[in-house]
Amino acid sequence: MTYQAIIFDAYGTLFDVYSVNALAEKLFPGKGSLLAATWREKQVEYTRLRTMSGMYKPFWEVTQDSLVFCCKKLGLALDLNAQHALMSEYAKLPSFPENLEVLGKLKDQGLKLAILSNANPEMLEVIVKAAGMDAFFSQLLSADSVRKYKTAPETYQLGTELFGLAAKNILFVSSNCWDVCGASWFGYQTFWVNRGKAPLEELGVTPNGNGDSLAALLAFVSKANDPA
Ligand code: LAC
Repeated sequence: MTYQAIIFDAYGTLFDVYSVNALAEKLFPGKGSLLAATWREKQVEYTRLRTMSGMYKPFWEVTQDSLVFCCKKLGLALDLNAQHALMSEYAKLPSFPENLEVLGKLKDQGLKLAILSNANPEMLEVIVKAAGMDAFFSQLLSADSVRKYKTAPETYQLGTELFGLAAKNILFVSSNCWDVCGASWFGYQTFWVNRGKAPLEELGVTPNGNGDSLAALLAFVSKANDPA
């Protein structure tokens, strides 16, 4: 199998959503990692609810709503300063250390690269620029343009439209197994960056490749595109 283009999910795949743990722990001692984990889960749940009911709201607002809910649920007093601090941290989540080198090598192989994320365009622009990755991607595709979150097929379709390629010629890369499943159902080839050694979702999907970092992705793509 050869790939002509690679599409990356953003949060969790290129950017570390759990890096907010440290600030959350400082603000709410003993509850930092619990807050970070439940915040992420609630954020994804809200994207699904809003998409299923046609009640779109930009990802930045969904992220804020889920933070407020989780703090209420966990009994944490979130004042406006703490809310602002956590959201600012989210706006500039750090990228994983291997990213720049791997993206550069993939581009050197002639592959076209893009991001396809639930995040609204303003969020994507800020975070990609802060990570120094703007030169690598043809485009930052956002669910905002179809007002439906992944795993809606209309959102995945943004990638095939961008490159003018069939989904089967594009590799979709995500650390979120549910996203890998949605992308596979759409027709993409998929690579699961399983950083946390999570079990495969019981959804009847097996990704074409998997590994624990983007370095494993590079090895997988190099082998697929140059089997000799
Ligand atoms: C994204 C979330 C799902 O970037 O990680 O789309």
